[in-house]
Amino acid sequence: MKKLENKVALITGAAQGIGAESALRMAEEGAIVIVADLSEDLGVKTVDLIKSKGGKADFIKIDVTKEEEWINGIAEIKSKYGALHILVNNAGIGRPSPITEMSYETFRLVFAINLDGMFLGMKHAIPLMTQSNGGSIINLSSTASKKAYANMSAYCASKAGLAQLTKVAALECAQNRTGIRVNSIHPGIIETPAWDSLGALNGADPSTKVDLDQMAEATVALGYKGKPKDIANAIIYLASEESSYVTGSELTVDGGQAIL
Ligand SMILES: NC(=O)c1ccc[n+]([C@@H]2O[C@H](COP(=O)([O-])OP(=O)(O)OC[C@H]3O[C@@H](n4cnc5c(N)ncnc54)[C@H](O)[C@@H]3O)[C@@H](O)[C@H]2O)c1
Repeated sequence: MKKLENKVALITGAAQGIGAESALRMAEEGAIVIVADLSEDLGVKTVDLIKSKGGKADFIKIDVTKEEEWINGIAEIKSKYGALHILVNNAGIGRPSPITEMSYETFRLVFAINLDGMFLGMKHAIPLMTQSNGGSIINLSSTASKKAYANMSAYCASKAGLAQLTKVAALECAQNRTGIRVNSIHPGIIETPAWDSLGALNGADPSTKVDLDQMAEATVALGYKGKPKDIANAIIYLASEESSYVTGSELTVDGGQAIL
């Protein structure tokens, strides 16, 4: 028996990286996966890949910072599929820069995507998920919600805010008996295209390309970087009945980065 048979799942930022891999895994587990992203070209590629493997998927363009696009996207899911059971708030960005050099626009943009976008997603998905007899919301936070990294002020602060936003949402959903569980995942160093443009952390020149292997060797207890499938597996766990008594929790998937 597949773990997400007949579930309708919406995942943001699913055109590449962790989102694309997780969309693929959810489809393998039987879910109808709605791939949402800014990038239609890449998002449709994820959909085509899922379909080529026999899965069910659809693309919806949602810029997570735009409330109108959330309203329209959820309405489209309701009219096409009649239900929503899983929301993975995955879209997120990092824009490394020292505080004294970071523009306020950049600071706001990181918050708009990493925190406001996840608030908007929950605000507009919860009513349809409640009508669908509940389900699971998974918010992609980071080890940066707990550890401070120089040049990552907006990222660290938005991911820390998200951890708390997740817990409040979990409490409201539980107290209102919606049947919706809400949890956050805290990845460490995961090899995705995000790192290509991120620049070095911890004081290095932000234009420098990060050597992920070297960074993982130095900062991760297991000594190596993670792959998108490591996070996708955690998403499958939190999305499925296997985690039916888990809500308001922080699932760290970082090879022991946080304990080093
Ligand atoms: N890769 C890591 O090492 C790592 C570590 C910790 C946490 N995370 C978190 O995991 C999530 C996914 O990271 P990733 O590495 O796969 O990122 P990525 O950059 O590879 O992919 C992010 C996706 O989000 C989309 N996106 C960006 N802005 C958007 C917007 N406004 N609306 C809709 N979509 C938008 C992009 O088009 C892209 O497809 C993020 O929230 C990130 O902060 C990643």
